[in-house]
Parts: sequence; structure tokens; C-alpha cells
Amino acid sequence: MNKCGRLIQKLINPFRFKKDDKKEADLENIAAQEQKIFRFETLVSATKDFHPNQKLGEGGFGPVYKGRLEDGREIAVKKLSQSSNQGMREFRNEAKLLARVQHRNVVNLLGYCAHGAEKLLVYEYVANESLDKLLFKSGRRDALDWKRRYDIIAGVARGLLYLHEDAHCVIIHRDIKASNILLDDKWVPKIADFGMARLFPEDETHVNTRVAGTNGYMAPEYILNGHLSVKADVFSFGVVILELISGQKNSTFNSLDAQNLLEWVWKMYKKGKSLDVMDPTLASSVVREQVEMCVQLGLLCTQADSQLRPIMRRVVVMLSKKPGTLEEPTRPGYLGSRYRRTRKPTASSSTAGTYSDSSSHTSSSTTSTISATVTGSTLPLPSPKISDPRGKHPMPG
Ligand SMILES: Nc1ncnc2c1ncn2[C@@H]1O[C@H](COP(=O)(O)OP(=O)(O)OP(=O)(O)O)[C@@H](O)[C@H]1O
Ligand SMILES: [Mg+2]
Repeated sequence: MNKCGRLIQKLINPFRFKKDDKKEADLENIAAQEQKIFRFETLVSATKDFHPNQKLGEGGFGPVYKGRLEDGREIAVKKLSQSSNQGMREFRNEAKLLARVQHRNVVNLLGYCAHGAEKLLVYEYVANESLDKLLFKSGRRDALDWKRRYDIIAGVARGLLYLHEDAHCVIIHRDIKASNILLDDKWVPKIADFGMARLFPEDETHVNTRVAGTNGYMAPEYILNGHLSVKADVFSFGVVILELISGQKNSTFNSLDAQNLLEWVWKMYKKGKSLDVMDPTLASSVVREQVEMCVQLGLLCTQADSQLRPIMRRVVVMLSKKPGTLEEPTRPGYLGSRYRRTRKPTASSSTAGTYSDSSSHTSSSTTSTISATVTGSTLPLPSPKISDPRGKHPMPG
């Protein structure tokens, strides 16, 4: 920068800092007024000192505890693991912003707590907990009749539409899956863990392009190229639709006919046997046209070519229409045997369908978070086409 440039910069900087400070002070005021800040002692007492009996589960970001505030409100407290490299100031700012996200189909973030090195998020407690527990783990799958499942699909669609288009900032969830859909006492679905991409930003200057999400739900272009857009959420939502209809978990799906749930549903759909993918426990409550329409919708959302996947606004419209008016889906996208976690990116790796036709691969049955790494040593590195500049996942370990 020349002398003149430096002088201009010097003159501008004080104003710039003032603006940032003002923004932060505004957020601080909003948080204080709305009582979004929790004292650590309050959370210790609410969760019985984070007693193991209070633990609801633990995912990639740290353990979650059930608690009760003095006023009787039930809460879920997420203790974020230390692996986040985000500073306290950024954490506070992001948490304050996220606490303003409010929608019937999104879990309410009541507030946050920053205590020493500890970062905690405080959510409303959602009575029926997560969809995965009910659908895959509890043997209580029959509690979810077709009407409930259809309402869950429609509710999650509205919640995602809100996050993508109507919240005060665009929020790409990046980890839509059955365990991040909670059900309240009236079975209203609520999307959990929105905004984790903002709370766990990746170092964008790092030579590695690292992508993480949950096996079985991630869009192929996101795994292979780190290309994150709202269409990656649409893909994950499509997987959830097909899991709800079939009662089968994509990542542990086992069949001689197909390497995963998506391929199996696709094959059945092409044979005109959409209804055969249905969970047998739905037999007595089924509305056939709706199931067929949702199979088609699930396939539209999981298409290999992200451009062809509908945006959430369109999904919500489709769900409100009479069945039978949807377009034809093309092949779903999933990773075949040629997929390698560390691979040299090629131009073709992002093209639709190149990673979807494999015959010998058996899909992994792990449900853990997986990662695809493009290392500096395998350059040329593609410039990560990330629509949300902060939309990267924390890397476990
Ligand atoms: N607000 C909440 N109300 C009720 N139960 C909750 C709430 N938040 C989380 N849980 C429960 O805690 C469990 C653990 O949640 P957590 O988000 O840590 O893990 P996960 O969803 O399996 O993985 P990930 O970290 O990728 O989101 C969930 O499966 C859910 O059953
Ligand atoms: Mg979760």
C-alpha cells in the first residue's frame, strides 16, 4: 500500500472500530434485555452439576444435559467441546444472533453462557426428544403413524425454508438428520443444532479443505468438493423423508439389491413399486397417494445434480399440492466404490452421476461423523465453492 493509501486507512480505521463496537454493544443490550445470558451457577444447579443421569446424549459438539430452571422451565444444555477455535467474543456474538432465530419448527435457543473456557448453549427442552431415537432405536416406531410422519416432513420443510430464506441471516444447517429433528409433546418437529456452522467456523485460510457432516446424509458435492449451499440441506432433508417413509436408516441400510437406501428407493420407484418401500408398521394408517408423492419428493431432493433439487420454498408448495403433479426425479447422488476420503479433485468429480454408479461397494454402516480431506499435497486445490463463507464443520479429533 502506498503512502497515500496508508493515510486514508489511518483516517478510516477509528470509524470502522466504532461501528463494530457499536454493533457489539447493541447486541449486548439486546441479549441483556431479553435475558439471553445464563450464569454458569444457574446451569450447574439446573443440571445437578451436569450429573451423568441428566445426560441426554452426546454428538460431535459435546454432551447435552437435561435441566430445570428455578422457574420450572425445562432446558437442554449443550456443553460445547473445547475443539472450537472460535474466540469468546465471536461466540457471544454468534450466540446472540442465533438466539433471535424463532420459528415453530426450529428449537428455541434460550440463551448462552460463557464461563472461563466453557461455552454453553441453552435450549428449550423438547419432550419427545429426537426422531432417530424413536424411529431407529426405541422399538416405539409404531408411535409414528403416517399422519405424524407426514406432519413431520411438512414441519421440517417449513423450518428449513425459514432458515434458508426468512431468518434474519441465511442459515445453512449443514447437518440435517434424524437426530437433529426433535419432537415436542404434540409431535411438532423442531430442527435442532441450526447455526453450528457459525459457531464452529473453519480457518478459511488453511490449505486443507475439510468437510464434515454425518454419514448417510451429506450431499455428494459437499463431501467431494466442499461445495456447501442450501441444496446440501435439501439433499439431507430428502434422506430424512425416505428414512421416515421406510423406517430404515440410510447409513446402516442392508440389502442385496442396493448399496444404500437411496438406490433401493430409486429402483423401486422406477419399477412403479413406490409403496413397497413403506415401513410395514404404516399399513393401517397409510394414505397411499401421499406416500407415493413423498417417495417422489424424497428422490427429487436427493438428486445427484444439485441444480435439479428443488429449493425449500418449492418443497413447501409441493407438499401443499394434491399428489400427482410432481416432476420426474433423476438418479439420486451417493458415493460409490470410487470414492476415497483423500482424493485428488478432478473436474469430473463434481458432475452429476459420476459418483453414483457402482455395483460392488457395500455402504459403510458407521453413523459417525465422517470427513473428506483434500490436502495441500494433492494440489491443485479447488477453490472451495462455499456459499456460506462460515459454513464449515468442526473436525472431530
Ligand atoms: N433441546 C433438546 N431437547 C431434548 N432433547 C435434546 C435437545 N437437544 C438435544 N437433545 C438430545 O440429545 C441428544 C444429543 O444431541 P447432540 O446434538 O449432541 O447429538 P447428535 O444430534 O446425535 O449429533 P450432532 O452433534 O451431530 O448434532 C439428541 O439425540 C437428542 O436426543
Ligand atoms: Mg444434534
